[in-house]
Amino acid sequence: MIAAIGSINVDYIIHNKRLPVPGETLYGKSVMIMAGGKGANQIAAASRLGADTLFLSKIGGLDQYNSTVLKDFEWAGVSVDYIETVPDSYSGAGFAMIGEDSQNSIIIIEGANAEMTPEYVEKYKDQIKNASIVMCEFMIPQETAEYTMKLGKELGIPTLCNPAPFRKTDDSFYRYVDIVTPNEIEAAEACGFTIDGRKSASEACDYFHGLGVKSVVITMGSRGAFCSDGSRQEMIESYKVKAIDTSGAGDSFNGGFVYAFDKGYDIFTCARFGNAVASKSV
Ligand code: RIB
Repeated sequence: MIAAIGSINVDYIIHNKRLPVPGETLYGKSVMIMAGGKGANQIAAASRLGADTLFLSKIGGLDQYNSTVLKDFEWAGVSVDYIETVPDSYSGAGFAMIGEDSQNSIIIIEGANAEMTPEYVEKYKDQIKNASIVMCEFMIPQETAEYTMKLGKELGIPTLCNPAPFRKTDDSFYRYVDIVTPNEIEAAEACGFTIDGRKSASEACDYFHGLGVKSVVITMGSRGAFCSDGSRQEMIESYKVKAIDTSGAGDSFNGGFVYAFDKGYDIFTCARFGNAVASKSV
């Protein structure tokens, strides 16, 4: 079973030929309103692949799309039993504009994700302790991400953190992270240098290993994922596809990765599986 402590957003997604420039009004091609949020996307991907999952997250009581979001989770096979409603808050939200020219922009509103507290996670310790991996991402408060990773360590369960969207944290946070899965931009923000190939990716892995992280997986889009377990380093090539829409690709990768990890595969095989799922997603 995979335990995810993560965010939920109501995603408002507009597809169009191109994005407007400031001050411009454009007709758009389509709009969709659906469940999103990095944690939600990741656990939904793992669940759709067939994994048993536990998802801890919060939605707001003030907005009208809760039933849409909860129905989406049921469609993906994600249990909504432990999702709590914050009565006086709106749900988190993502406002994305995606252009056919592969340009996209997104604004995120934290909403009820800000109410994800360590006390909320602590309430479900008995459920979490049955997991084969505990994962979090950075759309929940830092204190809760840290509590989650520490709890996994305390319970003897492998911990995974997808540090997205990136935020600077104390180096000590990574002591509790067994597997970190940044993309090349997030890894560059963490280690302070550009990652544009195998050599710099290898140096970034060494940076995270130096902070105590056992395994590092740096996703690099169409180039694949550079993986290091502290003794072996390898670029796991992506599957070549014509990308239509890359939004959520990183979340699909993480969902595929933890699905394979839950099945007992090593990180290199998990990354290969994550690449396959991300390729399918885009
Ligand atoms: O990674 C994609 C997700 O990031 C979207 O679902 C949006 O909600 C933002 O959280």
